[in-house]
Amino acid sequence: MNVTTTSVQAFRSSILHCTRDPGEQDDTAVEYLEDGILLVSKGRIESIGPADALLATLPEQVTVHDYRGQLIVPGFIDTHVHYPQTDMIASYGSQLLEWLNNYTFPTERQFSDAAHAADTADFFLSELLRNGTTSALVLGTVHTESVDAFFEKARQRGLRMIAGKVLMDRNCPEYLRDTAQTGYSQSKALIERWHGQERLQYAITPRFAPTSTEHQLQLAGQLAAEHPDTFVHTHVAENVREVEWVAELFPKSRSYLDVYDQFNLLRDRSVLAHCIHLDAEDRQRLASSGAAMAFCPTSNLFLGSGLFDLSAAQSVGARVGLGTDVGAGTSFSMLQTLSEAYKVSQMAGQSLSPYRALYLATLGSAKALYIDDHVGNFDHGKEADFLVLDWQSTPLMTRRMQAATTLKEKLFALFMLGDDRAVSKTYIQGRCAHDRDAL
Ligand code: GUN
Ligand code: ZN
Repeated sequence: MNVTTTSVQAFRSSILHCTRDPGEQDDTAVEYLEDGILLVSKGRIESIGPADALLATLPEQVTVHDYRGQLIVPGFIDTHVHYPQTDMIASYGSQLLEWLNNYTFPTERQFSDAAHAADTADFFLSELLRNGTTSALVLGTVHTESVDAFFEKARQRGLRMIAGKVLMDRNCPEYLRDTAQTGYSQSKALIERWHGQERLQYAITPRFAPTSTEHQLQLAGQLAAEHPDTFVHTHVAENVREVEWVAELFPKSRSYLDVYDQFNLLRDRSVLAHCIHLDAEDRQRLASSGAAMAFCPTSNLFLGSGLFDLSAAQSVGARVGLGTDVGAGTSFSMLQTLSEAYKVSQMAGQSLSPYRALYLATLGSAKALYIDDHVGNFDHGKEADFLVLDWQSTPLMTRRMQAATTLKEKLFALFMLGDDRAVSKTYIQGRCAHDRDAL
């Protein structure tokens, strides 16, 4: 090891990560060490290996954090979440379009206030870390203040985050409306201010087709072409009435997805939330464009939107990530989100294996966001964002784990029963950023 030993830390625990997509069957796509060492140097993964072999090679000064009896996995990656909707999570009683008018727009209005934005961003990021989420693709509001506040708070914590200002120039209250031109120029200024600063990246964020004019979508596409390494982030085909509305607003488009395609918004680093009411041609086109789907099961159930078809997405080779979609989603926990993802798959006669579930929350979501060169698993040189999971965080889990005989059985039960209580520690670049037991 050619680094100073004081910058090296060792973490001893069971360790599990994905090296590629395990699909439903491929158990060789994960690496598991029952008693392993994760070696971190200067905030990056140095190596992983069996404890008995690695411990003997470590200089005496290296700190060994002993988490035996728990499980280290890569940090979870949430591919679609609205930080300004934190305060309106779990709002009763309506489907998408009414829910936006009744709850979302009035809540988002408050983000013209930079102090409110900063306070909410701070709470939101703490909540992500409490739940083991170390990176996310995040929507702000139409206000630039919302994005400045978010990035500033993420930067202070050293997080890898992607975010953007919402673009919305029609079909919304006056108080949340930008124009095609101001939306373009404000987004461009935010890109110049934040994109590529430390671990932060920018997402050009038209809210969804109904709230943008053709001119706004055209300028969004132009901005994306001018900044090819930024993200494009939006919603598509979530709700049946929304899909009908888009057909009325854009009569020349073949489909809802086609609206985005016509304005050059489908490409590498485009992420489209929901993708429920797509046809086969849409799925093919989305996959071939390099864009990704964000599967948001708790949101889709909560708003009664429909069931995402994971098998159909896989069969065209589309990139798929997992999203909480808070505040339509009902939990910040990616464990709870996996549990609902499993049930949504069951409703379609499909399944979601424990290893593939892990993949969906980690390396698969990293690939969906094109950040898998940096995070997503424990390959040498990647950023050391990881979690320590507690198999026994509730009496029921303790009892269930005693009855389990295989790793897969334990992992599946952890995904079905776990929540924020199962995340005992969250590390960011090798630094402890959340310690459940210190609170
Ligand atoms: N479609 C347009 N805006 C939103 C939003 O804020 N949440 C969800 N779930 N869908 C949307
Ligand atoms: Zn959303």
